Amino acid sequence: MTEKTATKKPNTALIVTAIIVILVIAIGAIYFLMRPTPPAGPKKMTFYTWWAGLERFAIDAVIGNFTKATGIQVEKTAVPGGAGVNAKYAIIALIMAGKPPEAYQVHCGPEMISYFMAAPHGKDDFVDLTDVATDIGLINTPAGQVCQLAGRLYSAPVNLHRANLIFMNKKILDKYGIKPPTTLDELTAACSKLKAAGVPCMVQAGADQFTVLHLWEQIFLAVAGPDKFIQFMYGTIDPNDPSIKQATDTFLTFVDTFPSDWMALDWTSAVDRVVKGNGAFHVDGDWAVGLIYNVYPGTKMCPIDSITPDCDIIVAPFPGTQGIYNMVIDAVGVPKGPNQDLGITFAKYFASKDGQKIFNPLKGSIADYPDLPTDIYPTNIQKWEVQQYASSKKQVFSLTHGALFSDVWSKLLSGAVLLAQTKQTSMWYSTVNDAIKLELSLWQQSGLYLGSPTSPFAGYLPPWAKK
Ligand code: GAL
Repeated sequence: MTEKTATKKPNTALIVTAIIVILVIAIGAIYFLMRPTPPAGPKKMTFYTWWAGLERFAIDAVIGNFTKATGIQVEKTAVPGGAGVNAKYAIIALIMAGKPPEAYQVHCGPEMISYFMAAPHGKDDFVDLTDVATDIGLINTPAGQVCQLAGRLYSAPVNLHRANLIFMNKKILDKYGIKPPTTLDELTAACSKLKAAGVPCMVQAGADQFTVLHLWEQIFLAVAGPDKFIQFMYGTIDPNDPSIKQATDTFLTFVDTFPSDWMALDWTSAVDRVVKGNGAFHVDGDWAVGLIYNVYPGTKMCPIDSITPDCDIIVAPFPGTQGIYNMVIDAVGVPKGPNQDLGITFAKYFASKDGQKIFNPLKGSIADYPDLPTDIYPTNIQKWEVQQYASSKKQVFSLTHGALFSDVWSKLLSGAVLLAQTKQTSMWYSTVNDAIKLELSLWQQSGLYLGSPTSPFAGYLPPWAKK
């Protein structure tokens, strides 16, 4: 055998096999990389809210329909307490800890800025929902405009509530020959008559605090007017303005007519008293319309300008605030995070026409889309409110429901309850004084304002607005 014949010839079969193996591996790898990916992330999210107990109906309907439409499960973490008296602190704590929920309930107004201030990276920790609102036609609605903070929408509005309402038990008024009051003087006179007869006149509630400040706020709106009211929101009002003292004096005359156990009541039990004829008046927002509609189905509510004999509850603008719409706008905020797309999907659905058509009829509020027909509303109060809003001369943001920074709000909330308990006006005036100063400094610190550069809320572009 020669050297030449000893050299091995390449084994063709082996080479072909190797090439096939390499090709199979390569194709497999390409297929693996390009395979359709399963839907990213979990299809489950958390929504933080205070809509629990007797005010759960509207939100539960939205969540049920949302899950049906998208397959996304929403775990509603409800921290009860009207006006968010407990929920706001729970949400702030989660945000401060950098562990926010996918979405949460918030009011339009500086309340949202309080969340920015609590977050590790300020407003950068929240999804800017301006484009989402543009997609669903919300941005050009009145709420889409006024809920903007310096031209951007960081929370998606889902309704329009009205704070300056009074609920009256018609049978009591008839029995004592009282005509539904339309001025503060008439209301005061009605209350002194009822007090003399041993009937609780003004039924407000101390257990969840907010309806006490809520009452003070409506009186302040009546005596100070909308312009000074807006100055209170921006902290630019003179803390010694006489309207503050005037409102406080009137407030204390009503406190004298609260039921003796007012500190044990929450807002839903205050409504219950008036519905059942155990008190004459309750001052609250139209979430009470939702409560009466859902929980007391036989009760007939009538707007003050169309009272019928079979009417049980008369609903009217708080005396002296006719023509003003004291707005409370509930909204959804979406913190940034790994599952933010779920939060965005939820906010988009909830704030859309379809979402608002489900939510508002049961909530007692009206929708933000002015072109929705009024026959979606089950109560004549909501139909009346659509007209009331359209014909209102001035709109303000409710101080008790969103128009104050959360620190300022909590000072005033407990201060008003303390005032009602102790009647110590000097303590209250110093609380109001501190609150107004803090409100102004927080606005200045934020550099923000309500509305947009071309359309600031109430035509006011504050001096601290960043150019
Ligand atoms: C308000 C809120 C309403 C209703 C009410 C009573 O602050 O905007 O939607 O929930 O509190 O809890």
